[in-house]
Amino acid sequence: MSWKTFTLFVLVVSCSFILIQTVHGADPLFHFCSSSSGNFTSGSPYEANLNKLTSFLYLKTPPTGFGEGSIGQHQDQSYGLALCRGDVSAPDCKTCVATAGDEIRKRCPLQKEAVIWYDNCLFKYSDKYFFGKIDTQYVFYLWNLNVVNNSLEFNQKTKELLTQLTVEAYVTPKLYATGESELDESTKLYGLVQCTRDLSAGDCKKCLDDAIGRLPSCCDGKQGGRVVGGSCNFRYEIYPFVNA
Ligand SMILES: *[C@@H]1O[C@H](CO)[C@@H](O)[C@H](O)[C@H]1NC(C)=O
Ligand SMILES: *[C@@H]1O[C@H](CO)[C@@H](O)[C@H](O)[C@H]1NC(C)=O
Repeated sequence: MSWKTFTLFVLVVSCSFILIQTVHGADPLFHFCSSSSGNFTSGSPYEANLNKLTSFLYLKTPPTGFGEGSIGQHQDQSYGLALCRGDVSAPDCKTCVATAGDEIRKRCPLQKEAVIWYDNCLFKYSDKYFFGKIDTQYVFYLWNLNVVNNSLEFNQKTKELLTQLTVEAYVTPKLYATGESELDESTKLYGLVQCTRDLSAGDCKKCLDDAIGRLPSCCDGKQGGRVVGGSCNFRYEIYPFVNA
């Protein structure tokens, strides 16, 4: 597996503050513990439902790379989903969902709503029904600190590739596409786009178009970048990063 280590920085854009941190390989890319959804109490029915939901998503997600479900009723109901990157094998998906489910509960021990992202998966839960709605609340950017020489042309080619991939992805059942384009004789640009599969095709396209619209603020002239949200994300690099 080709793994290049770059220093990536993360910018949280959904809140009114900017947070910059270095991302290491095996750590989560990022997580949010909701402060507006409130807390449950230890030993409560909500906690029991969330535990069951976590186990459910662990079983449900790996075979297809996507799982969603809810456990419980009324104010104790917990809703969640997990999504693995489109090229990730079922065993790697299982590992990622297990890690994500453990880690988010450690990082957000009492919050009713939280979300965590890794390279290979995302895991999200809430006490509110959120399926089929574009998540505009939880979004962050990652970018490579290295810049390109010819940013105007590069930015244009990046936008073109990601727009092309979006057009491919939103008509497929997996709501996922990867591809590459030529930058010059010796360099290629590699891209990936993906939506969570609770979205309709139209909303997947809308979510990705909006993410691509953030390119100037996240990734202007950067050799690699990602806009990552609870419903969709893209990534581009000048090296291959997707498993064949
Ligand atoms: C919710 O729990 C977190 C710890 O998990 C705590 O930091 C936070 O203050 C709590 N919020 C409320 C409103 O009690
Ligand atoms: C930038 O330009 C230099 C010199 O022309 C070249 O060696 C290098 O590969 C270029 N870098 C990128 C990322 O295009």
